[in-house]
Amino acid sequence: MGSEPRKIMVSSALPYANGYMHMGHLVEYIQSDIWARFQKLRGHQCTFVCAADTHGTPIMIKARQENISPEELVTRIAAEQHEDLKAFDVAFDNFHTTHSEENEMLTCRMFEALRDADYIYTKTIEQAFDEQEKMFLPDRFVKGTCPRCKTEEQYGDACENCGATYTPNDLIEPVSVLSGSKPVWKDSEHYFFRLSAFEQRLRDWMQTAKLHQNITSKLEEWFEAGLQDWDISRDAPYFGFKIPGTEDKYFYVWLDAPVGYLASFLHYCNQHDDLNFDDYWMPGHDTEVYHFIGKDIVYFHTLFWPAVLEGSGFRTPNSVFAHGFLTINGKKMSKSRGTFIKARTVSDNLDPSCLRYYYAAKLGPGMDDIDLNFDDFIARVNSDLVGKLVNIASRCAGFIAKRFDGQLADELCDPQLFAQFSDASEEIATHFERREYSKAIRAVMTLADTANRYIDDKKPWVMAKNEDQADEVQAVCTQGLNMFRSLMVYLTPVVPALAEKSRQFFDEDEWAWATATTPLLGRKINKFKPLLTRVEPAQVEKMVEQSKEPEVTTAEKPQESDSDEITIDDFAKVDLRVARIEKAEPVEGADKLLQLTLNLGDQSRVVFAGIKAAYTPEQLEGRLVVAVANLKPRKMRFGTSQGMVLAAGPGGEDIFLLSADSGAEPGMRIK
Ligand code: MSP
Ligand code: ZN
Repeated sequence: MGSEPRKIMVSSALPYANGYMHMGHLVEYIQSDIWARFQKLRGHQCTFVCAADTHGTPIMIKARQENISPEELVTRIAAEQHEDLKAFDVAFDNFHTTHSEENEMLTCRMFEALRDADYIYTKTIEQAFDEQEKMFLPDRFVKGTCPRCKTEEQYGDACENCGATYTPNDLIEPVSVLSGSKPVWKDSEHYFFRLSAFEQRLRDWMQTAKLHQNITSKLEEWFEAGLQDWDISRDAPYFGFKIPGTEDKYFYVWLDAPVGYLASFLHYCNQHDDLNFDDYWMPGHDTEVYHFIGKDIVYFHTLFWPAVLEGSGFRTPNSVFAHGFLTINGKKMSKSRGTFIKARTVSDNLDPSCLRYYYAAKLGPGMDDIDLNFDDFIARVNSDLVGKLVNIASRCAGFIAKRFDGQLADELCDPQLFAQFSDASEEIATHFERREYSKAIRAVMTLADTANRYIDDKKPWVMAKNEDQADEVQAVCTQGLNMFRSLMVYLTPVVPALAEKSRQFFDEDEWAWATATTPLLGRKINKFKPLLTRVEPAQVEKMVEQSKEPEVTTAEKPQESDSDEITIDDFAKVDLRVARIEKAEPVEGADKLLQLTLNLGDQSRVVFAGIKAAYTPEQLEGRLVVAVANLKPRKMRFGTSQGMVLAAGPGGEDIFLLSADSGAEPGMRIK
């Protein structure tokens, strides 16, 4: 890392203020939030901005339908969306709105600069007009048959089937989405931006911005096809900013939307004396600007946007990072399948850290779509976060708290082992910097395996039984906790809420990236509270249930079966886990039962098992067995049984516990 902190502005794409946040959007906001948090943790001055994208016809129409003003609508929705994002720990320094003074001022300033430099001209064009609604129709408000592949019900801008782009005029049998009437074609004067004048400058920018190969190949295609000038005006009625010097012309939403990045930043600068707007947005400064976007809006961000900035005397972004789209269980999100899931539904049912972790584990720097498979999601979160990571701390923390009054040892007992953790710092940082999050996660989890193996070898729970090994217990647990601490620092950008709890556990004021490389020794730490509980399949099922919209036809409904057979799906509901029997005790008054205390990685459970005739408690303690982890707790005469251990055999003395592999670890899922 260079000694001077970098000055960075990061943006997320601005969510349209006409709907709710869903799991797809979250890919965008989580990806960018991780990067901004990472930069801050590294000690850089990083400002992370966003805003509600408020203008345009769809928002105007929606407000009309709700009988409220567009201002009212966007204020309400922006607040909801911002709340949803906060629930996922997306921490913008500023979340502004494009319907703001700053944005109007900047948009007009850019427009005037472009006009004065002769990059704007007017031209009369024919546009679809809805005579019933008395308004011009945006391309997406006209539907018809694709002129190329003849697919019906395509929007007026592009075909979803063959990818052809065109104008509504080219559609076969066009209709207005608003009234269903056939649009007429009417003349109107529009303002155009000379994008075609920027080809060479865009090519140069493309090189310096080191855009991902996925984006450069798109750009090459577009250059090849020839850049078309861009229509930046819309006729009244329109919710947006009026073009200076006109009475009934408005800026097209996509002109003022990216200006919203600057407007949000400016609004923030006005409240923070240490930040200077011009340092970031006028050419010739040593600051960095990056935009995170989804692959659907690359055209706007890598052609129009840099050209508008360049042409109006602003600086261009250092780079634009585009991600792919979210699919769920390998398919597009779908309302009828219940996979079009609102952010709110996720945060109501799951710890948001789980989704942040899963997305990070899947994200790379390119535009490939990312798939969230529910089974994989549950298994991954439980095995990595709960079973591996949190497990390191829960296996060591209790001894430090109970036996040593929270005091860590003064020295590491294996500094070389710790060095593996601190030496990984730069490699992991490089992964984050390059947005190779999946690689960063893999590196962290490999180290988590190392840490767990160390604890398995040392077995502090065995040493703890021996009075004269007390120092060693403290040393081993201090070592374990320090490995956990380093990993948690590395994962701070990904799971900030878990990192925050961990920081409090270590009783430290602040964590920086470098914290991971210096061990914490000879200090008192706090009591460990569980950081995260396992995700149960039922939580995910509930989320899907709550997202289903009633458009399922009877033909699609799964048939109820009346036989005794269970399907593979029923069987898959049984959550089989590796458990370690920590304690086995006779139960007073019961001659067949033993009371077992099981360690399931992140938690311990008490289970009653009828195996007393076959095993003595001594034979059982320390043994790895297979347990049903999601059995509903059952009240028995002697207490509540919170699960079941699996065994086979005819009964009596011939009962054989199913043992887990020697390589297994408590909490591991058995497939
Ligand atoms: N308002 C524009 C962006 C203007 S930026 C100056 C917009 N808004 S959006 O609400 O439709 O999308 C916001 C972000 O979420 C975009 O980056 C978009 O690519 C992303 N996603 C929307 N749906 C998505 C998925 N299903 N999967 C991944 N990202 C998705 O576009
Ligand atoms: Zn087509």
